[in-house]
Amino acid sequence: MSTKKVYKIKKKNFIIFLLFIALFIFGIIEIVFCIGKLITTSNNKEEEKEIIVKEKKEKDKDINKDKRLDELENIDKKIDYFNYDYIDRYIKYKENNKNMNIEQIIKNVNMNLDKKQYEDKIPAKNLNKETILVNKYYYLDENYVPNNLEKINNQYALDNMKLVKEAKEAFEKLSKDASKENLNIIAMSSYRSYSYQIDLYNRYAKSDGKEKADTYSGRAGHSEHQTGLAVDVYNKKVPYTSFENTKEYEWMMKNAYKYGFILRFPKDKEEETGYHFESWHYRYVGIDIATYIKENNISFEEYYATKIKD
Ligand code: DAL
Ligand code: ZN
Repeated sequence: MSTKKVYKIKKKNFIIFLLFIALFIFGIIEIVFCIGKLITTSNNKEEEKEIIVKEKKEKDKDINKDKRLDELENIDKKIDYFNYDYIDRYIKYKENNKNMNIEQIIKNVNMNLDKKQYEDKIPAKNLNKETILVNKYYYLDENYVPNNLEKINNQYALDNMKLVKEAKEAFEKLSKDASKENLNIIAMSSYRSYSYQIDLYNRYAKSDGKEKADTYSGRAGHSEHQTGLAVDVYNKKVPYTSFENTKEYEWMMKNAYKYGFILRFPKDKEEETGYHFESWHYRYVGIDIATYIKENNISFEEYYATKIKD
C-alpha cells in the first residue's frame, strides 16, 4: 500500500473516532440534562404540593378564626382593646364564666385575671413612663431604678423620701395646697428599692403569714413603690392605716387627680388590683390619666387593659 493510502485510512479512522467521542459526550450531556429536569420537575411538584397544603391551612385558620370570633360575639368589631393574640384565652375564660358579659370577659383577660398571680409573670413595660404598670403580674427587675429620682422637700415628707421628678413636683404642690387649708398630707413612704422591698415583705410575712401579707404588701419586683411614682401618706395625727377617717383623705378624694394622682387600691377593685383597699397609697399617672380614671371610676389595671397597648 502506498503511504498516501495508509494516511487516508488513518485520517478516516481518526474522524470516526472523533465523531464517536462527540456522540458520547453529547449522550452524557443529554442524560445529565434529563436527570436534572426530572429532579426539578419533582421538586416543583413538591413545592406546589406544599403551597397548596399551606393555602389550605391558612384558609382553615381563617374559617376557624371566624368561627372563634363568632363565639366571641364578634366583639372585636365593637371595641378597640380586643387583642387577637388572646382569642384562645378569651374563649377559655368565657367557658369558665358563662354569665359574664363579653366586654367584661375581654377586659378581665386583658387584665390577666385568667392567670395565676405571681406565677404567670410578665416584665413591666413602659419603663420610666407614667403609664408603667407594676402589680402581681407585671414585675420590675431587681436592678431597675427609675431615672430622675429626687428628694421630696422635708416640709412635705419624712426624711429622705424620693420620687421621680414629675411626681415629686406634683406631690409637693398637692401637699402645699392642702396645707393652705390646714391639712397635712405628708409622704411617709415613697420610692423603695428592690432589696428594701424584700426586707419589708419578709417582715410582714413573718408577722402575719404570707397569705395575709400578700393582701397589703407587694413582693419584691412587684411593688409599684419601686417605680418611684407611688407614695404613702399620713396626716401626722393618726396612724396611716386610719387615713380613711381623716379630712385629708376627703380632700385627696376630691383633689388628688388635679395633681395627677389616683387612689391606687380602691375599695371595690380588689380583684383587679390584687390588694385590699389602701386609703394612704397614691400613684402618679399624670393629670390626663388621673382625670379619666376618676371620671370613669375605674382602676389603673382597667385603664391599662383598655387604653394601653402592651
Ligand atoms: N402596699 C403596696 C401594695 C405595695 O407594697 O406595693
Ligand atoms: Zn404604698
